[in-house]
Order: sequence, then C-alpha cells, then structure tokens
Amino acid sequence: MNIKDKILEKLILSKGKRVSGEKLAHELSVSRTAVWKQIKELREEGYMIDSSTNLGYSLVKTPDTLNPGNIKAGLKTSIIGKDIEYFKETESTNIIAREMAGSVEEGTVVIAESQTGGRGRMGRKWLSPEGGIWLSIILKPRIQPLYAPRITLMAGVSVAKTIQSFGLPAKIKWPNDVLINGKKVCGILTEIEAEIDMIDYCVVGIGIDANVDTESFPEEFRDSSTSLKKELGHEINRVDFVQKLMWEFEALYLKFQKDDFPSILEEWRNMSATIGEWVKITTQSRTIYGEAIGVDNEGALILETGEGRLEKIVAGNCEHLRMP
Ligand code: BTN
Repeated sequence: MNIKDKILEKLILSKGKRVSGEKLAHELSVSRTAVWKQIKELREEGYMIDSSTNLGYSLVKTPDTLNPGNIKAGLKTSIIGKDIEYFKETESTNIIAREMAGSVEEGTVVIAESQTGGRGRMGRKWLSPEGGIWLSIILKPRIQPLYAPRITLMAGVSVAKTIQSFGLPAKIKWPNDVLINGKKVCGILTEIEAEIDMIDYCVVGIGIDANVDTESFPEEFRDSSTSLKKELGHEINRVDFVQKLMWEFEALYLKFQKDDFPSILEEWRNMSATIGEWVKITTQSRTIYGEAIGVDNEGALILETGEGRLEKIVAGNCEHLRMP
C-alpha cells in the first residue's frame, strides 16, 4: 500500500475522530509535509477531510470509489484482496491480472472503475461503464487444468451469495452467469495459464452491473440485463459489496483448497436457475437441445436430449428455453 492509501485507511478506521498530522507522520515514518501533501491529493480525489492546526485531520465524507484504501478499511479476509491494484480506467482487469500474475501473491485483486476493452466469454465484448464493479482475482491453486471449471462455479456461488445478502433473489445460469429475476447482473470470465498437468495461475474476472443504468446499454443487451441499482430501487455501497464478495470468495476458496468441492457444488445446485430447464447449448462445434438434469463433479452440465440420450457439456453458451 502506498502512503496515501495508508493515511486513508487510518482516517477511515478512526471513524471521524481526529488524527494528528504528527501521529500519522510518526507512524508512517514520513514528514508532516508529506502527510499534508497526501491529504491535499485525497481532497482532490473527492474525500472531504476536515483539518485543524492543533487537533489534526478527520474524514467527513468518502467518495464512492473502489480504491484500495476504501476497500481495505474493514476488509475481513487474509488472502483475497491482501494486495489490490486499482485503476480509474483500464482496458481490461483480466489483461492486467494476467500480465502481473507471475510476480504477485495469490489473492491479489485488480479492480477498475471502468474498462475500455472489457472481455466477456467466448470472445465477446463486455460493457464496463463507471458505477459497475470490474475486478479480477489472481489464484494459484495446485490443480490440474481439467478442474479449472470448478473455480468458475465457485466464483458464481460467491457472487450469488453476496447479492442475496443484499436482499435480492440471485440465481446462477450455467456455468456462471448470475441472474436476478431471469436477467443477467454479473458475468464471470476465468482464464488459466497451465502446463499439461498443473495450473500456473488462474485469473477470475468478475463483472457486476452494480450502480449501472442498463437502459443506456445497446438494445441487444437491454432486455436481458439488469443492475443491482435497478432491482433495489437505489444505489448500493460498492465498497461494502466488494468487501462482502471478497469474504464469501475466500471462505469458498478455503473449502476448495481443503478438497471440499462437493459442498460448493451443493450450494451451486441450490442456487441454479438452469437445472430442470430446457436449454439450447451452443459449443464451438455443435448445438444441442435438451433438459438440464444436473452438473457433475467437474462442473460439466448434464443434458437429457429429446431422444433420452445423456450429454455432458464441458463448455459452451447456454440459453434457457420455454418448455417445448
Ligand atoms: C461474460 O461474458 O459473461 C463474462 C464477463 C466478465 C467480465 C469481467 S469484468 C472484470 C474482468 N475484466 C474483463 O475484461 N472481463 C472480466
């Protein structure tokens, strides 16, 4: 964390009480002038910081930004979000995360206020305006590439549980679109770098339409997407959301590392919007119709076709159909 974020964290943790410039300077081993300069920068970023010559600084109001200082103050995790790279704007947090994955610790998060080239599944673009939550988590699990889809299912469960904790009925469409009342509010793009038998790293990119106006989306997405703001009727505190998400994600990841994938899968099944639905699956080579009857231990979807044949789908695009 840089000095500015450390000052911000101390101001947030002191909950509006004054912190003297001298104390900050001493604790951070910098001069009082350096502290003052950082306070000036924070004010320019929209933080309202009151100051009095003898009593010090107090934080009056925080802007709604996802910078590391805001997120780390009160974050209850020990791996996920221990290090956070923040961008006001970037091309794609997944691209940045992949570039840095080799040289950072597991759990590092890359987060941005907006993305200019957000990436979706199957080579699609992902709209990422300000107000959303666009983040990528770097993981280094000791697993074979074959099991990577498990991480994707786990991420979907963590997002759905977080959204549910905000009082909304989140469900998961296979493999990991999170829906509210049938409309997509979150997409997840997991990318891996691997040897034949072992993953080097895995980047889990999560995009959530939090305080986004989906009415401004191009027509093709407008009817099928929603936002947390739209469903709740008011904006959410994105910092609270990200802290809760990191906590849920870490709790599941610890289970995953203890080989307790069955309990994660059980949670996925309980929140599934796909099991029991008639679906159309489009893979790179074919289109299959059938009833989704389950998900196996590797995260593959099991379909029963109209002719009663069972099909296992490892990856593809899934569309829910009306009953035939
Ligand atoms: C999907 O197609 O449903 C997956 C969308 C994933 C979007 C997220 S936003 C954060 C991260 N950075 C990206 O460029 N993509 C993912």
